[in-house]
Amino acid sequence: MGKVIYCDAFAKCVKEYIKSEIKNFSPVLAIVNVGNDPASEAYIRGKKKDCIECGIIPKIYHYDEISEEELTELIIKLNLDDSVNGIIVQLPLPKNINPQKIADLIFKDKDVDGFGKDNVSNLYTGNNCIYPCTPLGVIRILEYLGYNDLTGLHAVVIGRSNIVGKPVAQMLLKKNATVTVCHSKTVNLKKYTSSADILISAVGKPKFIKKEFVKNNSIVLDIGINRLENGSLCGDVDLDDVIDKVKYITPVPKGMGLVTRAMLLKNTLECFKRQYRDLVLKK
Ligand code: GUN
Repeated sequence: MGKVIYCDAFAKCVKEYIKSEIKNFSPVLAIVNVGNDPASEAYIRGKKKDCIECGIIPKIYHYDEISEEELTELIIKLNLDDSVNGIIVQLPLPKNINPQKIADLIFKDKDVDGFGKDNVSNLYTGNNCIYPCTPLGVIRILEYLGYNDLTGLHAVVIGRSNIVGKPVAQMLLKKNATVTVCHSKTVNLKKYTSSADILISAVGKPKFIKKEFVKNNSIVLDIGINRLENGSLCGDVDLDDVIDKVKYITPVPKGMGLVTRAMLLKNTLECFKRQYRDLVLKK
C-alpha cells in the first residue's frame, strides 16, 4: 500500500520559515488579474490569504478588460515602483493580450512566476534564476521525500506547457534524472509512464491515470486540478486505483496545489531580498 503525501504539513513548514524571515519587513506582491475567470479569482483569493498569513502585502490590480498597451504601462509602472517587490500576472489572459510579451516585460528580479525570458533562459542554461512555482514545488517535494539526487531514475512528465512540463523537465535533468516528456500527441502513453520511477502528471483529465499506467513502487506527483460536474476537485490520477502499486502519491486536493502556493511565497521573499539588496547598495 502506497503512502499518500498530504502536502499541508510541508506548506505549513515553508510558511513558518517565510514568516520568520520576514518578521520586520513588509514585502509587497502585485497581483494582476484581467477578466472574470472564476478559477483565476479562486486562485487569487488563495494567494491573497497566503500572503497576509505570512506578512506579505498583496496589492490586487483587477481589470474586467484592458488593452495590451495599458497592461504594458501598468507593468512598467510596477517595475519602477521601489515599494513593489514581486509581480504576478494571473493566467490565462484574454485573447487580445500576448502572455509571453507581458511576462517578458517584468523585471527579472520581480518575476515571481519565473516566466519572463531572462529567468527562462537562465533556467535552460543552468544559471541563477527564479524557478517557476509548480516545477520548484515538484523538486522540493522530491527532496522532502529524500530524493535529492535522481541519478539512475526515469522521470516521466506528461504535459509540455511553459508553466509546468518544459521547466520541470529541465529541473529534473539538473537533478540527474533521465527525463521523458509526453504530451497530448504521444502515441502509446502507457509505454512510457509504466517505466517511470517518478511520474509527474499535468494532463488536465480527471482520474485519467490508472494502475496500468504506473510502475510498481513509483512516486506519482499529480499536478492536475480538474473540477468534476458535482463541483468537487480531483487530479489526473485515479488515486484509489493506483494506491496499492505506488510508493508515494500526492492527492488532489491537499497536494501539489498547496506546494505551488507555498513556492510563490518563497519566490516573493527571494525577490524581496534581491530588491532590498539593490536598495541597500544604491544608498
Ligand atoms: N494560472 C495557472 N497557473 C498559474 C501560474 O503558475 N501562474 C500564473 N501567473 N497564472 C497561473
